Amino acid sequence: MMNIDWGNLGFGYMKTDFRFVSNYKDGKWDDGELITDDSVVINESACVLQYAQTCFEGLKAYRTKDNKVVCFRPDLNAKRMADSAARLEMPVFPEGKFIEAVKKVVKANIDWVPPFGSGASLYIRPYMFGTNPVMGVKPAIEYQFRIFVSPVGPYFKGGMKPIILRVPDFDRAAPRGTGHVKAGLNYAMSLHAIIEAHNQGYNENIYLDSATRTKVEETGGANIIFVTKDNEIVTPKSSTILPSITRRSLMYVAENILGLKAVEREIYKEELSDFKECALCGTAAVLSPVGKIVDHGKEYAFPSGMEKCGEITQKLYDTLTGIQKGEIEPPKGWIFEI
Ligand code: PLP
Ligand code: COI
Repeated sequence: MMNIDWGNLGFGYMKTDFRFVSNYKDGKWDDGELITDDSVVINESACVLQYAQTCFEGLKAYRTKDNKVVCFRPDLNAKRMADSAARLEMPVFPEGKFIEAVKKVVKANIDWVPPFGSGASLYIRPYMFGTNPVMGVKPAIEYQFRIFVSPVGPYFKGGMKPIILRVPDFDRAAPRGTGHVKAGLNYAMSLHAIIEAHNQGYNENIYLDSATRTKVEETGGANIIFVTKDNEIVTPKSSTILPSITRRSLMYVAENILGLKAVEREIYKEELSDFKECALCGTAAVLSPVGKIVDHGKEYAFPSGMEKCGEITQKLYDTLTGIQKGEIEPPKGWIFEI
């Protein structure tokens, strides 16, 4: 086994042994291969460097109690990446090949999958980018698809300790823009807002809908769920947020396993004071409790407080992670064995 302090890992990059690489040229993808070189060498005028033609995905591999290695719903990441590619005028990496590539790269790095019970997992990062030189604004004709993996711990330091969000003066996604796909450009424009949030002592930004700035949408890297005083799960409905696989799974878990009502609808900022719990959800964030949202001095403090995770959030967390770690019977097709 590796000499890694699995229990104290943060969410960071660590170089592992192998990455999967496939190139697109003359209208087709090659077979792809595993390589050890972690550097990418591309032309100085590559479309990705000039015009940010890139998209990515994020999923995780987990070690189960009986020491199997599994992934959670990789078919949905393959599908979402196809949607992202199409929106950015990039060739789709075929969904079947995507899943095969995930399997190959995890297998090749199997010793990097953290042990069961460590709280860590193996983050898998598929991505693709336009590689040939361009000058005028147009899509590339050559692309590289890669997947690397890295063992990770919790996205927010402190794991299940509640975090504080602020409402920023910046928007994340325009109506009819790219907020619903996983384009690198969505994250580039969030960097300034996140630095500002950190400088002001907040963990993350909660973005509003940019058309009216009256509704809450999501954070820079996760969707959001709320729990009403009647134990209903509510999540924002919007065409400009990323369709989180974790959120869709949690809504299913709430309704079909926990017997709670789960509703996707528009959520107005003023409603924040009606909820008793709030949490961020995503592959990296898993389910991170939110204690407070601050909007330019106005504080929305959730009754669950700043000390511990709310009761319903904890139930959702335990059920979802129980499924991912093989302790709870998964809904059909959710667990993919490596
Ligand atoms: N929203 C944004 C902006 C994200 O970057 C992510 C991360 O992938 C999510 C939501 C959560 O999506 P998922 O649950 O599919 O990881
Ligand atoms: C993920 O949850 O996989 C993400 O991509 C979020 C963030 C690290 C960008």
